[in-house]
Amino acid sequence: EEGYCTSAADQLMCFKTTLDETNEGDALTTGQGQGIGDIANSKTAGPRGPTLIEDALHLKELAQFDRERIPERVVHAKGAGAYGELHITSDFLEKYSKAAVFRNGSSSPLFLRFSQVAGELGSQDTVRDVRGFAVKVKTEEGIWDLVGNNLPVFFIRDARLFPSFIHTQKRNPQTHLKDTNMAWDFLSLRNESTLMLMYLYSDLGTPASYRRMNGFGVHTFKLVNTEGDSVFARFNWRVNQELRNLTAEEAMGLAGKNPDYLLQDLYENIAQKNFPSWTFTVQILNADEAENLHFNPFDPTKVWFTDEIPEYEVGKLILNKNQNNYFAEVEQSAFDPANMPCGIEPSPDKLLQGRLFSYLDTQYYRLGVNFNHLPVNRPVNKVIANSYRDGHMNYDNDGGMPNYNPNSFMKASALPRYKESTYRLDSDIVDRHEPANDNFFQATQLYESFSETDKIHLAQNLARDLKPVFPFIRERALKNFEAVSSDLFDRLQQIL
Ligand code: HEM
Repeated sequence: EEGYCTSAADQLMCFKTTLDETNEGDALTTGQGQGIGDIANSKTAGPRGPTLIEDALHLKELAQFDRERIPERVVHAKGAGAYGELHITSDFLEKYSKAAVFRNGSSSPLFLRFSQVAGELGSQDTVRDVRGFAVKVKTEEGIWDLVGNNLPVFFIRDARLFPSFIHTQKRNPQTHLKDTNMAWDFLSLRNESTLMLMYLYSDLGTPASYRRMNGFGVHTFKLVNTEGDSVFARFNWRVNQELRNLTAEEAMGLAGKNPDYLLQDLYENIAQKNFPSWTFTVQILNADEAENLHFNPFDPTKVWFTDEIPEYEVGKLILNKNQNNYFAEVEQSAFDPANMPCGIEPSPDKLLQGRLFSYLDTQYYRLGVNFNHLPVNRPVNKVIANSYRDGHMNYDNDGGMPNYNPNSFMKASALPRYKESTYRLDSDIVDRHEPANDNFFQATQLYESFSETDKIHLAQNLARDLKPVFPFIRERALKNFEAVSSDLFDRLQQIL
């Protein structure tokens, strides 16, 4: 079976056993189908003369190769993907959302890509970082992309800061080295990042496997039912395998021994039919509860702790098939938080609002305007986007269908049931300052829930990174951790 070699190292032998000799043909050809007589020798003027420009095969071989690379993702460049299914096993969401994907008993195919955030395409899998958890559910009403992470909150709450934040996680523009001063300068100046740092510098920042971590949608979304009533929701993926993390030492060792540790683990477990799964859960707040919550429910730097806002099981996600070709399927997959079928809508979360723009924009640049024609990105329902035409590499251009709307010649038209909800806003255009906001109280709660070992590891992991930083930046960072807990502050002081 395609994609089911049990060890990644056996892939070539596995390919050989699945080769269909009758269909394969016996001649190697050019991309235009002309047979090739000699693959190893270019055509020269005599046995010791220069290569001839009339050797079209030679030129094609090199020119095609010269164009193999496309831009890597500007963030989340290194990743692993797999196909699977989402099964809904409860009618809980039916009263809140009209989305067909949430109907009890429904099953939708999906593609999931796990990733590292900061490293490049060839970077190490086990270094401390957030892990991406991007799910593309192919619902009968179009694509639903829940582009989340393995940690429940984020570093910043306003999309305006995202490019700067990412610059501090990437390379110094002069030295081309990772630069902890850049990172801690920014993070200590923006102390809404404190809760995220507490998660990241615990052992959750070094998961032992993509199969052994949770996933979180992070943002608050709006769910709308057939009556047009809405509530707010957060979506979570609770891992069904034992949750397991690496210690900092284990993670550093593996980064040297096997930089592709997580990629290989996922591929081989799926190949061995050891299919990983997650329980799909949701947390709900109605408009009144959202209004009266003691923190802003649309702030992605705040967690919805489950003892405060209950979590309901609504389904199961299972991964059961590897890609057949990494570049075609995983590298060219394109997730976009703006992809929501009717019944799921954005909330006013300012980070989410920025993401609604950024993903499609980068994918036009990274993949080209027709990336939705690629099988991994195509919806399973019928697409009638008859005014989307032409552009590079368009092989599905809707033939003679009218390319304008409205028109008098087609049955399909815009249907009111797909209209987005409306809501009333009565407010001034405000200046850009955040209202007073307690950036520490949830970090304190999290710290207090940690075991003694968690506390030791957190302090050690933070101290290791803070040690080489300029003293004035380190002092500022320490002040933030002092606001979380004097116990954490003392431990950090002691190690430093
Ligand atoms: C990838 C932008 C915040 C999760 C990306 C990409 C961009 C981007 C441009 C590359 C997409 C591509 O090349 O296909 C932003 C912006 C953000 C933001 C502007 C804030 C304003 C977040 C947050 C999360 C997140 C809060 C998690 C909750 C991801 C994931 C990927 C990704 C998982 C990789 C998707 C894949 O596997 O292809 N982001 N991001 N991002 N982002 Fe964000």
